Amino acid sequence: MRSIPPVPDDLSLRLWPDNWLTPMNLENEWEQDGPRAVDLGCGKGRFLLAHAAHNPAYRLLGIERKLRRVRKIDRKAVRADLRNIRLLRMEAAYAMRYLMPENWIDICYIYFPDPWPKDRHQDNRLLSKSFMDILDRTLSNRGVVHFASDHEPYFLDVADILASDPRWTSTEPHVLREDEVSDFELIHRDQKPIHRCSFQRK
Ligand SMILES: C[S@@+](CC[C@H](N)C(=O)[O-])C[C@H]1O[C@@H](n2cnc3c(N)ncnc32)[C@H](O)[C@@H]1O
Repeated sequence: MRSIPPVPDDLSLRLWPDNWLTPMNLENEWEQDGPRAVDLGCGKGRFLLAHAAHNPAYRLLGIERKLRRVRKIDRKAVRADLRNIRLLRMEAAYAMRYLMPENWIDICYIYFPDPWPKDRHQDNRLLSKSFMDILDRTLSNRGVVHFASDHEPYFLDVADILASDPRWTSTEPHVLREDEVSDFELIHRDQKPIHRCSFQRK
């Protein structure tokens, strides 16, 4: 077994693209070669951190636009020696469209993305018909997307989008361990039903 060197104080798990217009070379960013998983809008990181701890072979990339949240996850991951996490502080749709290599993602988690409830704001939603094209390009063959929302209209829209897109088929939902339940779900699960769906690239 390989011995793991001590973690220096200034270690960061954040990634910085060399170029903002072409896909990143992510293959060299991890020592392990397990499933490649992306958590879009990873928030405060409860799910990402626990999921990384339970799946040390996974290569987990958290993408989040809020700097303070990314910094906090970074510190916690380094402290817990979760070397399988990497972080991108960025707008998720941009990262997916321009920086993800083709067919790179085996599992994509989209947990409680902002629902943009007003009709005139719905174009801001992350998961939309056009985003399905981005998922189709970036997910591997048989790659899976796990989606969860407490906002029923958003969930129903996603279900409609999936039903009319022949590139995807519905698959088993992701069953989370209690310590993996995300920060958002933990706060809201007693107040509202949580809707989940999972779909796989054909
Ligand atoms: C409602 S929270 C859910 C966070 C986490 N997934 C959870 O379940 O606890 C939505 C998160 O997504 C982030 N976010 C929203 N839109 C984003 C975008 N376009 N790109 C990256 N992060 C985004 C927000 O900053 C926030 O942290």
